[in-house]
Amino acid sequence: MTQMLKPTDLNIAQCADIWRSGGLVAFPTETVYGLGADACNGDAVAAIYAAKARPSFNPLIIHVADITTAQRYAVFSDTALQLAQAHWPGPLSLVLPIKRGCGLSELVTAGLETVAVRIPENPLARQLLGRFGGAVAAPSANPSGAISPTTARHVHAGLSGKIDAIIDGGPCHVGLESTILKVGPDRVHLLRAGGLPLEDIACDVVVSHPRGTEDAPQSPGQLQSHYAPNAQLRMNVTEAHEREYHIGFGAVAGQINLSRSADLREAATKLFAYLRMADEDAATLGKSHIAVAPIPHEGLGMAINDRLKRASAPRG
Ligand code: TXA
Ligand code: MG
Repeated sequence: MTQMLKPTDLNIAQCADIWRSGGLVAFPTETVYGLGADACNGDAVAAIYAAKARPSFNPLIIHVADITTAQRYAVFSDTALQLAQAHWPGPLSLVLPIKRGCGLSELVTAGLETVAVRIPENPLARQLLGRFGGAVAAPSANPSGAISPTTARHVHAGLSGKIDAIIDGGPCHVGLESTILKVGPDRVHLLRAGGLPLEDIACDVVVSHPRGTEDAPQSPGQLQSHYAPNAQLRMNVTEAHEREYHIGFGAVAGQINLSRSADLREAATKLFAYLRMADEDAATLGKSHIAVAPIPHEGLGMAINDRLKRASAPRG
């Protein structure tokens, strides 16, 4: 049985207790809903992989309430601290050297020497993490390969019966996963474009990134086909074919439109919900494919195009 919880003080305390006893709770962050477990409890982390049917070589991000707690698990260089102070809480994950003997389960890091850390900004997430006190490992709360959830209902549709609870904090206002930066001694690498646009990153050190994220030094286990709707998806489509359900952007109207005013922030927030909606509507209308209008490759458009590219990749 998966409990659907409202965000009351009592329920927040209950979620922290579920984590302490090794259970799984899905919770909102400003990016997407995460499926959380105690990052120091190997059995609990294994249960995340099982609930999502996630390949276990793909490491997880740990979520904490504040920088002091983050420093219990990861070693912060000056650059890392600068990035953390500039952007936390917020849609940024930092890949840092793991602190020896910190107690994190090896399943979280898939045996790597580094750990991905983030402090989410969503107030409910921060209350939950503060109440728990430690590190919560949390991938997006969807079956592996499926579209990431931006509402509690999306989580319920994918994972009901497989997890202990879902706490409902309303829709996620960023709507795309966090930007992931790997902080090295003299370079910072973009591993995943995400909710913090590259142009907004405040850092004295050069952030290396490819023209498109497709050439990026990959996060391990970043699967080609991901975020995939049931219908086949085609990108950069100005005029859709008869068999295609068209998602528009700006002046390219489409059946539904990510942002009529061509606002990338609005499009990012709506993207995953609209992919789900398009899937349902396409099936109803007897259309076998989804087409998406061109999205400018700047700001949040870089992360949007990354997700669309994976959603349109050949299925493995
Ligand atoms: O916004 C987000 O980041 C959401 C919310 C729930 O926080 N989480 C999320 O987690 O997107 P997930 O598991 O779907 O993606 C985590 C990504 C994976 O691509 C993984 O390979 C990468 O982070 N990652 C984790 N640890 C890493 C490490 N030590 N080195 C490199 N990449 C790492
Ligand atoms: Mg995911």
